[in-house]
Order: sequence, then C-alpha cells, then structure tokens
Amino acid sequence: MNIILQTPRLLLRQLTIADAAVIQQLNSAPEVLKYIHEPALENAAQAEQVLINIILPQYKNNLGRWAVHTKHNNEFIGWCGLKLLAETSEIDLGYRFKKNAWGHGYATEAARDVLDYGFNQLNLKTIIAKAQVENLASINVLQKIGMQFLKEDLEDGCLIKVFTASDSAQIN
Ligand SMILES: CC(C)(COP(=O)(O)OP(=O)(O)OC[C@H]1O[C@@H](n2cnc3c(N)ncnc32)[C@H](O)[C@@H]1OP(=O)(O)O)[C@@H](O)C(=O)NCCC(=O)NCCS
Repeated sequence: MNIILQTPRLLLRQLTIADAAVIQQLNSAPEVLKYIHEPALENAAQAEQVLINIILPQYKNNLGRWAVHTKHNNEFIGWCGLKLLAETSEIDLGYRFKKNAWGHGYATEAARDVLDYGFNQLNLKTIIAKAQVENLASINVLQKIGMQFLKEDLEDGCLIKVFTASDSAQIN
C-alpha cells in the first residue's frame, strides 16, 4: 500500500485499480454528485476506466487524489488530494466523501494536511480550489483550512468560487 500521509484520525494512500468498486459506489451517490459535473458511474467497469484514464495518471510527481480511510476501522470514506489542471497548470485541492462520513470533520482534517503536504513536501508555491457557489459544505472546508477567496468564475455553465493558498500563507 502506497501511503501518502496520515492525520490523527485518517490515512491517505494511493488508489489502485482494485478500488473500482468503492469508486463506483462513491461516484454513483446522487448526494455526493449534487455539485459535481460528472456522470454517475453505473458499474465497476466504468469505475475502472475512471481510475485508468483520470485518477492513476495523476500520480506522476506525487500528485493525485488519494483514498482516505478512517484509522479506527480502516473504512474507505472517500478521497482527497492534489490534481494538476492540464489546461492552466494550476494545482487543485479536491475532496469527495461518502455521505456517512460527512459531519465528522474528516474533510477538513484531510484537506488541511494535504495542503501542508503540497507546500512542505512537494514545495508547491500556490494551490487553488474550486467549489460551486451553492456547495456551502465545501466552501466551509476551504475557509476552515485558511484558503483565501480569489474570485467567482463560470465553469460548465455554473457559478463557482475559486480559493487560493500560497506557501507563505498562515494555515490555520
Ligand atoms: C464537501 C464535503 C467533503 C464536506 O464534508 P463535511 O463533512 O461537511 O466537512 P467537515 O470535515 O468540515 O465536517 C463538517 C462538520 O463536522 C463537524 N465535526 C464533527 N466532529 C468533528 C471533529 N472531531 N473535528 C472537526 N469537526 C467535527 C463539524 O461541526 C463540522 O462542521 P462545522 O465546521 O460547520 O462546525 C462533503 O459534503 C462531500 O463530500 N460532498 C460531496 C462531494 C463534494 O461536493 N466535494 C467538493 C466539491 S468542490
């Protein structure tokens, strides 16, 4: 298992093709996809294609979306990580958790340490994050980890908020 980092309650590791079933489960829940412009995955074969074509190629340069497990029971609860946006060369912080893992502070705990990992282990200078304006839970996470609101933008016809953090910024 390729472990990326651990927080007090969580373990983050690289995903593998063997994670197709949990990725399919995550990416087929309507409440999880509510503010995300991705089609629901209907079966494990579709999830394998997402892993092969989108998630695993991001692991170059130690970036990527990483599986998050709760340490107390080793449950897969979702993913959090850093993605290189090919179109702008920006590094994007993102996270996606199963509904039963919401409301425990896990997203904030993972995102805070991923930001720290990006600055202190990968020596990144700037990390951005995007959330649809209606996605208040996600915006709450970005604010709690000390990211700064930069601008509103349009993406896929939806109004989004863009946040940024730099390596010199004080992370809460
Ligand atoms: C966005 C998302 C990750 C947020 O998850 P979340 O569980 O609401 O986020 P948090 O980790 O901040 O936890 C929320 C609450 O847990 C509570 N909590 C419970 N136990 C806690 C603990 N031990 N430590 C910290 N907070 C705790 C807090 O009260 C916190 O709410 P508050 O900050 O308003 O007080 C989740 O809604 C999700 O996965 N959505 C679907 C995918 C998605 O939209 N991704 C983002 C795309 S931009």
